[in-house]
Amino acid sequence: MGQRVLFTGARQVVTCAGAPRSRRGPAMADAGVRTNVAVLVDGERIAAVDHEAALRRAARDATVIDCAGRVLTPGFVDSHTHAIFGRARYEEQELRATGVPYMEIARRGGGIHASVRDLRQRGEDELFALAEPRLRALAAHGVTTVEVKSGYGLSLDDELKSLRVIARLTDALPMRVRATWLGAHEIPLDFRERANGRREYVQLLVHEMLPVIAREQLASYADVFCEPGVFTVEESREILAAARQHGLQLKLHADELSAGGGAELAAELRALSADHLAAVSDGGIAALAEAGTVATLLPGTMLFLGKRDHAPARRMIERGVAIALATDFNPGTSPTTNFPLVLTLGVSQLHLSAGEAMIAGTVNGAGALGLADHVGQLAQGFSADLALWDIEDVRELPYWYGQGRCHASWARGKPCHVHDLALTFPR
Ligand code: NIG
Ligand code: FE
Repeated sequence: MGQRVLFTGARQVVTCAGAPRSRRGPAMADAGVRTNVAVLVDGERIAAVDHEAALRRAARDATVIDCAGRVLTPGFVDSHTHAIFGRARYEEQELRATGVPYMEIARRGGGIHASVRDLRQRGEDELFALAEPRLRALAAHGVTTVEVKSGYGLSLDDELKSLRVIARLTDALPMRVRATWLGAHEIPLDFRERANGRREYVQLLVHEMLPVIAREQLASYADVFCEPGVFTVEESREILAAARQHGLQLKLHADELSAGGGAELAAELRALSADHLAAVSDGGIAALAEAGTVATLLPGTMLFLGKRDHAPARRMIERGVAIALATDFNPGTSPTTNFPLVLTLGVSQLHLSAGEAMIAGTVNGAGALGLADHVGQLAQGFSADLALWDIEDVRELPYWYGQGRCHASWARGKPCHVHDLALTFPR
């Protein structure tokens, strides 16, 4: 038996409890809001969620944490971030405001290419020092599990460097950190300029990078930016199929800016998730539903890029697709660590209910990482990942938009963030 901790006095305990898998359709709406309930943690796991009086009697030895009328939820799962980068890219925001599209900035050598030039000049220690406070900022917003992608290296050495930074973060931080190899985030400029460069880069990814990354176990997942002008559906299929051969689980940046068959490919490959999907087709939605691939929606990106054409979340839910919400935290299209703000956008822009947004940020985020059997719920046997909020009703989470109302969080039973200690902004 580990150390036992009893969380008492919450005005609401939002359990998100239910089947240990991604949730779809009407089942997404029920976040399991309970009152007069306490949560007993034993070591890294949740031992019981039950009436407070009964649990107090049953766990007299436990250390009590008084929630003092706040709201207790599962810690959030941010299943899509690009947190390993160097400098910020604020100049591109102004360019877009004057009418230069995201893809045009990339064609001019900015965008992802700018972050690649920058990251290649920095050492591992420096990148670690930049990333660590960013992940702590996510924890300060209630995130206890975070997926972090490489993808600003785009060479064997620089991708390895990025993934080693993620490995160090995994060891250094209390939150659960999961690594994704995104060597296929862009085609590096020098390869773009060569006649056969595209092909050569795909070969480099598949035959040089992937074997080393798999051998050194530096990533759990592989991802590709599948988009007209970046990687084609055929190239994405080749890269992801090879990644699967090496034992990685699959994710895909799909149909972000235009419908190009990305969702269909994610479904065909039985990927864990297809992400973005602002331009997904009806055929793509049907394929995701059939495959059980989670649709990870990133409304913060659309907001920041100034786009109004958000992903058709309601249509997806009606057709049986499991929706997750994530920040897409990155220096180009979504420089925010504010997870509850993403819930706000989920409700106000994607037309989710507060309950659906909660499930999207917990159970279904865990599903997008293949962790839904032990992460994302306050239920017996699940990982003791909790967040405590300075609100009285769970619907206030998306309501107080842009605010930091997270009082504290715990990951695997250990303090992950305490309000007073963590209110510093990351660079
Ligand atoms: O998820 N779409 C591709 N990748 C990121 C943006 C990367 C960048 O602009 O630096 C995204 O939006
Ligand atoms: Fe992304």
